[in-house]
Amino acid sequence: VKSIAVLTSGGDSQGMNAAVRAVVRSALYNGLEVYAVQRGYQGLINDDIRQMDLRSVGDIIQRGGTVLQTARCEEMRTLEGQQKAAENLKKRGIDGLVVIGGDGSYQGAHKLTLQGIRTMGVPGTIDNDIPFTDFTIGFDTAVSIVVDAINKLRDTMTSHERSSVVEVMGRHCGDIALYAGLASGAEAILVPEVEFDLQAVAKRMRDNFEHGKKHSIIVVAEGVGEGENVAKQLTESSGVDSRVTVLGHIQRGGTPTHNDRVLASRLGDFAVRRLIEGDSSKGVGLVNGELVATDIDKIVTSKKPFNLDMYDLALRLSQ
Ligand code: F6P
Repeated sequence: VKSIAVLTSGGDSQGMNAAVRAVVRSALYNGLEVYAVQRGYQGLINDDIRQMDLRSVGDIIQRGGTVLQTARCEEMRTLEGQQKAAENLKKRGIDGLVVIGGDGSYQGAHKLTLQGIRTMGVPGTIDNDIPFTDFTIGFDTAVSIVVDAINKLRDTMTSHERSSVVEVMGRHCGDIALYAGLASGAEAILVPEVEFDLQAVAKRMRDNFEHGKKHSIIVVAEGVGEGENVAKQLTESSGVDSRVTVLGHIQRGGTPTHNDRVLASRLGDFAVRRLIEGDSSKGVGLVNGELVATDIDKIVTSKKPFNLDMYDLALRLSQ
């Protein structure tokens, strides 16, 4: 490849900017021309593309959100949209594309490969739901935000001897709930990957309060349903007063942690190097400390395994 473009797509995540910076700087370092596409695939179809230089990505490594903006694009699901997107790249002589995003973004990249564009996916989502990488960019920051919120909730719950039900994001994946729950000493972690018995959770909560516990934290992944319903059932069955907090999009903002910046920098650079080596239609990741590139086909048809050992640990420690 001689010239590449970069875009961010789907829901944003902290560290996307660090990944954009890495792609641009790595491409320039390796003598490539590099372009940025604004607003994800929609911008690609609308020809919203500009050339980047070293300074275009200055002062963004620490910023949340994405300076390239992002969108969810229906048109990209059609053959016409895919052809238009590829044409807009080809007419500028751009033959490689780095897509920073989640599952849906990877599928778009795969379609562009069929139109003759070399593509590379970089996992950017708070959900940590992309297989063949231990972590996705943004997950670490999102978990830190949840842990910070739970620290605060714990103070006021203890004063009032209440239970706090905290609903967190993650779509169909329970990883944000799992990691945040373990890190904040939650009494129960409800995730879509593991069946649970709400009556048993309520009984344990009541027993714990009877034995002197002054607060209880229940983390609910959005994939199992609304925190509001969980709280209602728990209060009815346990008699313990509860309050619900839905953290929502707060989990997607703010300055990325050093872990997310380092991950973004390594994966962005690796994606560029793989394109230069002639690779295409792959998603990059970090597995056990090793940089890996896996077929997008395989990534989008696989499910990330849930860490049951960690889940059991969280339960054992929350007695
Ligand atoms: O995929 C990231 C994510 O934040 C999910 O955790 C959540 O379900 C969804 O996006 C929210 O989407 P939107 O930003 O469109 O409300």
